[in-house]
Amino acid sequence: MPLASRSHSLTSLIAGLDDGHRRALEMVRRLALKANLPVFLVGGPVRDFLLGTPVVDLDFCIEGDAVDFGKRLASETGGGVTAHSRFGTATVLFDGTRLDLVTARCETYSRPGQLPEVSWSSISDDLRRRDFTVNAMALPIAPTEGSLLDPLGGLDDLRTGFIRILHSRSFEDDPTRMFRALRYEQRFGFQIEDSTMECLVSAISASHMNAVSGDRWRHEIERILEESDPGHILLRASEVGLLPALHPALSKNDGLKAFSDSAGEDFHPDEWLAALFDPLTVDEGESVIGRLRLSGQRAELARDTIALRELEPRIRSASGRPAELFRLLSGFHPAAVAYKTKVSRDQIVASGLRRYLLELQFTRPVLTGGQLLEIGVPQGPVVGEILTQLRDARLDGIVSGEEEERALVRELLDRNLERAAK
Ligand code: CTP
Repeated sequence: MPLASRSHSLTSLIAGLDDGHRRALEMVRRLALKANLPVFLVGGPVRDFLLGTPVVDLDFCIEGDAVDFGKRLASETGGGVTAHSRFGTATVLFDGTRLDLVTARCETYSRPGQLPEVSWSSISDDLRRRDFTVNAMALPIAPTEGSLLDPLGGLDDLRTGFIRILHSRSFEDDPTRMFRALRYEQRFGFQIEDSTMECLVSAISASHMNAVSGDRWRHEIERILEESDPGHILLRASEVGLLPALHPALSKNDGLKAFSDSAGEDFHPDEWLAALFDPLTVDEGESVIGRLRLSGQRAELARDTIALRELEPRIRSASGRPAELFRLLSGFHPAAVAYKTKVSRDQIVASGLRRYLLELQFTRPVLTGGQLLEIGVPQGPVVGEILTQLRDARLDGIVSGEEEERALVRELLDRNLERAAK
C-alpha cells in the first residue's frame, strides 16, 4: 500500500500485527492504564508499520519509570526481564516476543563519541534525541490512543525516501549512527539526504570515530551482517571512507568488490566478514581484530581467511589428492572456505575448495573406534591413527565399504606386528 494512503492509527497498526505482538501490545496498554502512565510505541515499529513492512520488535517509550514498568509487566505475564536502572531501560521477553522499554529522556553529549548524560523527560524530548527523522515518530497507546506524533518530519522523509539527521552534530555525538544511516539507506532503498551526507563526511574527517569503543563498532558491523544485503552496505561504507576511518587497513576493499561480483544470492553473512579481511596481511588482520574486539568464531574466521590466501599454491598442488586436500583444509572456518570458493580466480583451487566443502569434509570411515577394538586393534592412540588412515583411504578411493575397510585394518595390524617383531 502506498505510504500516503495508509491510516496512521493505532487500530490499523494493531490489525497488522501477528498474534504474539498483538497480545504483547495489549498487555502493555492494560498495564499502562492501570499504572496511569503515558506510554508510546516509538521508533522502528512505527516506521515499519508506516512503510507496510512487518514489525519485528516492539519499542515503547514511557513518561515514567520504564524499569519499574518492565518488572511489573514481566511479573504479570510470567516473562523474563533485563533491566538497566542507570539507563532507565528494560527488555521484557515473553511468548517469544521482545519488548524494549525506555524512560523518556533528554540526552547531552559532553564529548564526541562518548555515551551521553541522560535525564528523564517527555516524549517530545525523547524524539529529539534520536538518530533520524524516520526513527523519530511515536504513536500514543495509553492513557488514550492518539494520532501519530511526528514533530520532525519523519513521515515526509518516509514518503520521499530520505535518511536525515535531526541536527548537525548528530554524527559527532554518536558516530555509530553513520553505519546506521548506511544500513537504513540500503535496507529501504532510501537516499542519505545531502546535508546529512555532508555532516557524515565531515564527522569522518574530524576523527570522532576514534573515541568510540571497539565493542560498539563490532556491534554495528554485526548488525550490518544481519541485513539481507550486507555487501552493498559494506561497499558503501568503504566508498564514503567509513571503513578506512575505522582502521586504515580497511581501505583495501578488493575482497568486498570480488565477493559482490560473485556471491549472488546464496551466501552466509559471515562470508562478508571474510571478504573484509581477505586483502589484509596477517599483522593488519590482527590489528583490525583488536580494533573491533573480535573474539571466538569470528576472530577465527578473520584469521583463517587470511591464512587461506597464503595456502592457495598448496591447495592447487593437492587438488588431485583428496586426503591431502582434507588435511590442508580441515579446521578452517567453513565460511572462510566458502568465501574463497566463490572468489578464487584459479579454477583448480576453486574446484578443490568446492569439493572439500560439498563432499570431502563429511567423509568418515564406516568402521567406528569400538568396531576397531572388536577386530583386535589395541586400545590407545593407535585406534585414532587407524581411523585417520581409513578416512584417508576412503578419500583417495583406495577402499569403499565396510569389507574393504576391515581388510585394510587387518593389513595395517599385520604390518604393525611385523614392525614390532623386527
Ligand atoms: N537510536 C538512536 N541512535 C542510535 C541507536 C538508536 O537514536 N545510535 C534510536 C532510534 O530512534 C531507534 C531506536 O533508538 O529507532 C531503537 O534502536 P534500534 O533498536 O537499534 O533501532 P530499530 O529501529 O528498532 O531497529 P532497526 O534499526 O534494526 O530496524
